Amino acid sequence: MTALWVSIKDLPSHVEETVVIRGWLYNLRSSGKIHFLQLRDGSGTVQGVMVKKEVSEDLFAAAKGLWLEASVEVTGTVRKDERAPSGVELSVTDLRVFQNPSEEYPIGKKDHGIDFLLDHRHLWLRSSRQQAIMRIRDRVIRSAREYLQENGFLLIDSPIISGAAGEGVSGLFEIDYFDSKAYLAQTGQLYAEAAAAAFGKVYCFGPTFRAEKSKTRRHLTEFWMLEPEVAFYDHKDNMALQEGLICHIVAKVLEHCRTELASLERDVSKLENIKAPFYHLQYDEAIEMLHKLGSDTPYGDDLGNEDETILTQQFDRPVFIECYPKTVKAFYMKEHPDNPNLVLCDDLLAPEGYGEIIGGSQREDDYDRLIARIREQGLPEEPYEWYLDLRKFGTFVHSGFGMGIERVVAWISGLQHIREAIPWPRTIYRLKP
Ligand code: 4AD
Ligand code: MG
Repeated sequence: MTALWVSIKDLPSHVEETVVIRGWLYNLRSSGKIHFLQLRDGSGTVQGVMVKKEVSEDLFAAAKGLWLEASVEVTGTVRKDERAPSGVELSVTDLRVFQNPSEEYPIGKKDHGIDFLLDHRHLWLRSSRQQAIMRIRDRVIRSAREYLQENGFLLIDSPIISGAAGEGVSGLFEIDYFDSKAYLAQTGQLYAEAAAAAFGKVYCFGPTFRAEKSKTRRHLTEFWMLEPEVAFYDHKDNMALQEGLICHIVAKVLEHCRTELASLERDVSKLENIKAPFYHLQYDEAIEMLHKLGSDTPYGDDLGNEDETILTQQFDRPVFIECYPKTVKAFYMKEHPDNPNLVLCDDLLAPEGYGEIIGGSQREDDYDRLIARIREQGLPEEPYEWYLDLRKFGTFVHSGFGMGIERVVAWISGLQHIREAIPWPRTIYRLKP
């Protein structure tokens, strides 16, 4: 009878049983009489112990000849082992080799440069660090969807190929679309707004594209954005939703990803501290604070990356920066009722220097003001006709925001750079692999 194939993570519930695991060899040590095979299958890792006198000579020799990343099927008996991280190890009784590589695995134990690792992203994903980050990413996405579903949101996806700019004409990827031009979506927001008029509480979630030549540790040219949009929510309701969502995500990552956070050496006390209420600063207060901290960004300008870094180092929880000047924000944001130079918007900045993870606003719901903003910004009117219709047929107070998944993953995981927060990073200089 062939033994049962089990995932490495499930081995602790098969103690003293003989099982089969399928995976890859990520390390091999030998004492002459014993081989220690470090095995991984994507679900976890385990040490296989092969004792010379317990297996055939051929098998023992075959194991010794394995190269790193050989794909194998290992049969063995699960033994309790207090010293092992998973609490078990495998006494190997049989080994089948699917493929033994004929050359050395390019990613070794020595320190590789970041360009080398990015060129080998297809292999680098197998490393324990990258696995930890990808598991945290999965948990961030899962818990965000969960939170929205539990709060009555409907998923309504938006198109990737679009005829108009969502966020402004700079930073658009233009593509040939039969006999005309089209753009890759910078945001799904405008479509989410239409969906909010149909379904009330909605969100879209998908890849978005920015052709900005930003070479920073926070920018990708392709990133994933989660965009809730809610009918009859104003600016304040919108911020409360962002706070609830972020608290839920952080709590779920802490609940499910302790091992991953530990392997990344993340200081979890910083995450345990992420609870409501978050801090709030008006834009002018933020500028004032920045000046005290040595920044020379003038009143009226957008905050730079460096500004966000020094500002968020002052806070132990996320901070909302509210009501920026109209001139630095997108055309669709609602004018502040008390000051026509400002808009009802917020950027949510993550602490520890991470900076913006969410951008949101109450939307301009007045037809005349919206068309005036479109003209002011020199945008073509025709592509926005359908969007203007939303202000003609039962216009409504509404608000929404976009949360950049990779920014959130980078912050929660404590990464230096956003490129590790996405499986296949796209930046100005990187399209491969
Ligand atoms: O602030 P942004 O540009 O807002 C929008 O696109 C709105 N239409 C969203 C909405 O209201 N529905 O982008 C939102 C978030 C940012 O806060 C950031 O987290 C992320 O998207 N983001 C990027 N992430 C990685 N690389 C880039 N180049 C990013 N640009 C924005
Ligand atoms: Mg923004």
